[in-house]
Amino acid sequence: MAADHDIERAAHALAAGELVILPTETVYGLAADAADPHAVARLFEAKGRPRFNPLIAHVADLAAARAIAALDDRALTLAAAFWPGPLTLVAPYVGSSAVCDLARAGLDTVAVRIPAHPVAHAVLAAFGRPVVAPSANRSGRPSPTNHADAVEETGEACALALDGGPCAAGLESTVIAALPDAPLRLLRLGSIPRGDIEAVVGPLAEAETDAKRTPGRLALHYAPDAPVRLNAQGPRAGEVFLDFGPNAQGLGEGPDVFNLSHVGDVREAAANLFAMLRAADRRRPAGIAVAPIPDDGLGEAINDRLRRAAGFVG
Ligand code: TXA
Ligand code: MG
Repeated sequence: MAADHDIERAAHALAAGELVILPTETVYGLAADAADPHAVARLFEAKGRPRFNPLIAHVADLAAARAIAALDDRALTLAAAFWPGPLTLVAPYVGSSAVCDLARAGLDTVAVRIPAHPVAHAVLAAFGRPVVAPSANRSGRPSPTNHADAVEETGEACALALDGGPCAAGLESTVIAALPDAPLRLLRLGSIPRGDIEAVVGPLAEAETDAKRTPGRLALHYAPDAPVRLNAQGPRAGEVFLDFGPNAQGLGEGPDVFNLSHVGDVREAAANLFAMLRAADRRRPAGIAVAPIPDDGLGEAINDRLRRAAGFVG
């Protein structure tokens, strides 16, 4: 786990325009000073990310969130329920130069979140200003959910890679837009199940298919090198299998069979998903076959990621 002096070093590196790998409770992020267009440009370059896809500004507390985003009553209700934690709110931008144009992809809105991970929180508190942090994968690949995977993806581009252990959630934050004269919209399924959010603010509208408003939903995403086959009852020749639940096929777990959750718990499966996709991919298989995952609770977000990994979206 990162120590106090690592936190200080990370804050200094960010202030010097460097990139830092930062653990959060969802996935590892690649962090930069949100106000520094040069640092943000290097971040887009390190990820190979299209510049029309805006970044999330991470802050330490609600006052810092409100200094960059006009949070209405609905947004504040969500903030009270889920921050710190894996909720990202998209709201009108009011931060003058705190989150540079490039970080927002030129939009008049900003995405903001207060992470719960103690290392992320300590870095944000020490740095004192918003930090943009997309997932630390190269664009289009599965997000890293542990230190080693993050270093493998974008370690070369960063000055420092903090270790916060494996991510508890394993899926990215849930992104909700709270914009004037519009219903609350679910822009990205994520670590907070839709039902948990709707229990607080009522039914959510779906994302518009407006590319400018929901750029992150368009790309093929989260994809390992090997082709992904969904709803598989078992592996075909040459495939690695990601099983779910008590093993019904009598397949012994070995180097070519993983189980996302033996007890059939979607939360455990979410935490294991990206690391197991990566481990499967390292076997250089002809394909990765994945067992059916129930669509309830976090299963909806898992299935969203799997469909994108398989190339069925965008
Ligand atoms: O859990 C997470 O959110 C992780 C950790 C590191 O915090 N970060 C993350 O960032 O997943 P990234 O950049 O991989 O995903 C950000 C998503 C993208 O889908 C992006 O299009 C969307 O948020 N987004 C950012 N700003 C937006 C805006 N102003 N309007 C609509 N969507 C926005
Ligand atoms: Mg990402």
